[in-house]
Parts: sequence; C-alpha cells; structure tokens
Amino acid sequence: MWPISINEIKRLQIELTTFCNADCPSCERRNYTIENDAIYVKPLNNSEISLKNIKEWLPLDKFHSLREIHFCGNVDEPTLHNELISICKYLKDFDVWISTNGGTKNRLFWTELAKLKNVLVIFGIDGLEDTNHLYRQNVKWKKLEDNYTTFIREGGNAAWQFIVFEHNKHQIDICRDLSVREGFKWFNTVYSTRENHEVEAVPKDREKNKCIRCKATYDNKELKESFYIDALGTVWPCCWMATNYQSNVVAKQIGYRFGHYLSHNLKYDSLENIVQGDMFAFLWKNLSKFEVCNTHCLHNISDTITWHGM
Ligand SMILES: C[S@@+](CC[C@H](N)C(=O)[O-])C[C@H]1O[C@@H](n2cnc3c(N)ncnc32)[C@H](O)[C@@H]1O
Ligand code: SF4
Ligand code: SF4
Repeated sequence: MWPISINEIKRLQIELTTFCNADCPSCERRNYTIENDAIYVKPLNNSEISLKNIKEWLPLDKFHSLREIHFCGNVDEPTLHNELISICKYLKDFDVWISTNGGTKNRLFWTELAKLKNVLVIFGIDGLEDTNHLYRQNVKWKKLEDNYTTFIREGGNAAWQFIVFEHNKHQIDICRDLSVREGFKWFNTVYSTRENHEVEAVPKDREKNKCIRCKATYDNKELKESFYIDALGTVWPCCWMATNYQSNVVAKQIGYRFGHYLSHNLKYDSLENIVQGDMFAFLWKNLSKFEVCNTHCLHNISDTITWHGM
C-alpha cells in the first residue's frame, strides 16, 4: 500500500490547465509529441480542471494535515484558467501557491487576486527587461511589470523566482535588490537540472542518495508529503512521474494489469480509493524499477530551489 494516506498529506500540487501563453524553450510544452503507441495521452491546449471538478474531487473534510495547494503543473499557466479566483476563494482554508510567468490577463484580474490573503503568487522572472524574454519567450516585459506591480500594490503576497542561466547570472543581485524595492516578500533562485535548449543553465552539484527515498512521502523541501493531479484529473505521486515522457514510460511498465489505464483518474474513482488502491501499491513496490524514481530520488537530479525571505 502507498505509505501516505490523504489525511496525512501536507501538500497537493495541481495542474489546472493545459494552456500557456509562453514558449519557454526547455518547458516540456516544446517539442511535445504524442507517440502512436502512447498509452497515456494528454494533449496540449484542450483541457482544464473546473471549480466543479475541484469541489467533487477534493474531499476537504478528510485532509487533516493539508496546508498547501500549489497550482504548478508540467504544462500549465494557471493564471489563464478563467475560474482561478473562484477556485482560490473556495480553497480559502489552505495556503494557495500559484506559479506563473506573470505575463497574462489585466489589472482587474491581478487586483482581484491580490485581495485573497491565502494566496502566494510566485512570479517566474528570469532576469530583467533585456534578459527575461530569452527564456520566457512570448512574455512581454511591460505587461509582466504592470501585473506584478499591480498585484503587490493592491496587497498581494508575491515571490520572485529566478532561474539561473549563463545569460542572466550577472543579474541575480540586481534582481534580488529590485525585488525588495518592489515589495516582493521572497526571492528564490532555481538551479535547473533540465536538459536546457537555446539557453545554458548554471550547473549545481547535488549529492546522490544511498537508496531511493520517495520525496512525495516525507517532509522535505522539494515535495513534502504530497500528490500531484494533472489537468486530466489523473493522480500521480509527483510531477516528475507525470511528464508526457515519463507517464508513458511508467504506463508501459504497468500495462493494463489494473484494467483500464485510467484507474487512477478522478473521473473514475475517488482520491482516497486511488491512493490506497492497487495501482499506487504497485508503484510503491516497484519504485526502484522506474527510471524517473532513480533519477530524482536516488541520483537526486532535481532542480535546486533556494528561498530567501526579506
Ligand atoms: C511548467 S511551469 C508551470 C507554471 C508556470 N507556467 C511557470 O512557468 O511558472 C512549472 C515550473 O517549472 C519552472 N521551470 C520552467 N522552466 C524551467 C527550467 N528550464 N528549469 C527549471 N525550472 C523551470 C517554472 O518556473 C515553474 O516553477
Ligand atoms: S510559462 Fe511555464 S508552462 Fe508556460 S512555457 Fe514557460 S515553463 Fe512552460
Ligand atoms: S520520482 Fe518516484 S520516488 Fe521520486 S517522488 Fe516521484 S514517485 Fe516518488
């Protein structure tokens, strides 16, 4: 059986939509191909999780330890979801984190969002006006600047997240100082371990673990005790296993031994049944056989994220 039940999880990570306005070169949205023999198919730009789904799928009364709900998927721009504000209001008893490229919508939206005191918006700003667009392609600096200043001026809680690349590393301190002046409450740096295209990430070494220790099942800075729900409503232990590529590697290893492959989808079963069911038990027993688990939770090849409070 999976070792963590829903009354023990501290965090839920949710991919609200398959839409995004930007075109970051190392995002999995780039070169997103669906192979002919794919078992698990999640096309881009065609689905989202509605407020109605959230109300039906999340048993709020059973989450005795849940504190944080993070809207941050593998392919989503959560601020494009047209019910985001209603969803955050519905989840008023939890800390809601929203990761965004910051380049969407208008002042009215950011002013409304700023009123929600349970919300923290993590703006992905990888440099300044002359560098941000080199990675955050399609994000217009003036719009981004207008959005974060509106949000902060209207009382919103904001964090500045900075992915360190060769082309922006000289701007870390300038951005950190600017983030203080602009009223961000946090500044964090990300050292990426992705295969980066068009841009060059600054490497950071990480120590390998002695054996696989599933980061979704204990208290740690990366995942905490958590589950990941993708934009189709499929439940995974973590976002790493839910990528287009890894979900299919895992799907092929599992095959159809639990009947139809979508046995871990919230349209077919409850969150409680899914995580206590056969499929998650199988995952738990076989973590060492999955490439993704060896990469992230044995070799520890994961982004290094460091938060600096103000
Ligand atoms: C796919 S994005 C979805 C949320 C939102 N669209 C955004 O970009 O913040 C999920 C996370 O991946 C981060 N990310 C994007 N490109 C990255 C890269 N090359 N290396 C590390 N993290 C990256 C984003 O900053 C965000 O925190
Ligand atoms: S903004 Fe986020 S989801 Fe959109 S392309 Fe960039 S990393 Fe991917
Ligand atoms: S990669 Fe595997 S071992 Fe690591 S958190 Fe995800 S499911 Fe757990």
